[in-house]
Amino acid sequence: MSNKRVVSGIRPTGNVHLGNYLGAIRNSVALQDAHQGFFFIADLHAVTEEYDAKLLAEHTCATAAIYLASGIDATRSTLFVQSHVPAHCGLARVLGSIAPFGLLSRMVQFKDKSERQGAKTCLGLFDYPVLMAADILAYKPELVPVGSDQKQHLELTQQLANRFNKRFGPVFVVPKPLIMQDGARIMSLSDGNSKMSKSEPNDRSRINLLDGADAVKAKVHFAKTDLIKGLEFGNRDRPEVNNLLTIYQLASGKSREHVATECGDMGYGKFKPLLTDALVSYLEPIQTRFARIMGDRAELDAILKQGAERAGVIAEETLKQAMSAMGFAGRT
Ligand code: TYM
Repeated sequence: MSNKRVVSGIRPTGNVHLGNYLGAIRNSVALQDAHQGFFFIADLHAVTEEYDAKLLAEHTCATAAIYLASGIDATRSTLFVQSHVPAHCGLARVLGSIAPFGLLSRMVQFKDKSERQGAKTCLGLFDYPVLMAADILAYKPELVPVGSDQKQHLELTQQLANRFNKRFGPVFVVPKPLIMQDGARIMSLSDGNSKMSKSEPNDRSRINLLDGADAVKAKVHFAKTDLIKGLEFGNRDRPEVNNLLTIYQLASGKSREHVATECGDMGYGKFKPLLTDALVSYLEPIQTRFARIMGDRAELDAILKQGAERAGVIAEETLKQAMSAMGFAGRT
């Protein structure tokens, strides 16, 4: 097996949606053939904003099951829960000592979220990107498949790795984000200028991976469109159309050129049922596997336990190397 590694994670903050799948999960699945995969449920990142403690464990299991149902193979890749590997927190703590305060306070996601949360903004939200850097650097990966909203966090990760290596010696590998052109930013169905998001209160703004045929049909039916004749990619004034065509392209597996020709003269009356059918067939196999996996919780728990053990060995070793390079006294 290749010794090149790939790392990625998803927060268990609610319904995993098509944006998560197209932006990150499907690329993670594709990479596990040629890389050692480390995929995790970022539960520590899910508690940095208001959340429901009664739902966290349930969402964590469901998100793990989504990874498996999407094709992550636990015999080849390591699937685990972030909080089950304490070395992530240890590494975040020591990386915190080289993370510039000014840079963290200018991170776009922190600025947006702290503005919304006001006085409820917590330290965990502020150093979210440092924990994320620790999640990644712990495994010395080559690639990190993510959607484009994580680009700035990946740049900070690279900066921290470089800064550390320069000051203390070459402990970390500087990772590259893998952001595919198609699917890197799937937009909301109700506003083509906002990304599809788990936290958007309007469920009609997103296609959840577990939405059944009726829900998909209704959401596509109500998806925002415009009054201009014909369908086209890439027109900045028509973000909704571009988004729906991109979703159709990826769900149908057809090329962009094929879709542009096939749908160029269509009206929404013809296109929306076509999109609905493509989405339903795309999601159905994932949903069937998801139900089977959730039906055997003991097996899912065993996979996550074994994953945390395997990940823990590697993350602990990296933490030890980092602390030793920084001059901490070793444990005897
Ligand atoms: P999260 O849970 O918000 O999103 C999981 C992945 O889905 C991508 N994504 C999207 N891609 C395309 N279009 C969208 N509308 C869309 N919405 C979300 C995200 O870019 C992400 O790749 N901080 C991460 C979790 C994390 C992580 C990590 C990821 C923690 N540590 C280390 C990679 C490596 C997050 O908020 O994911």
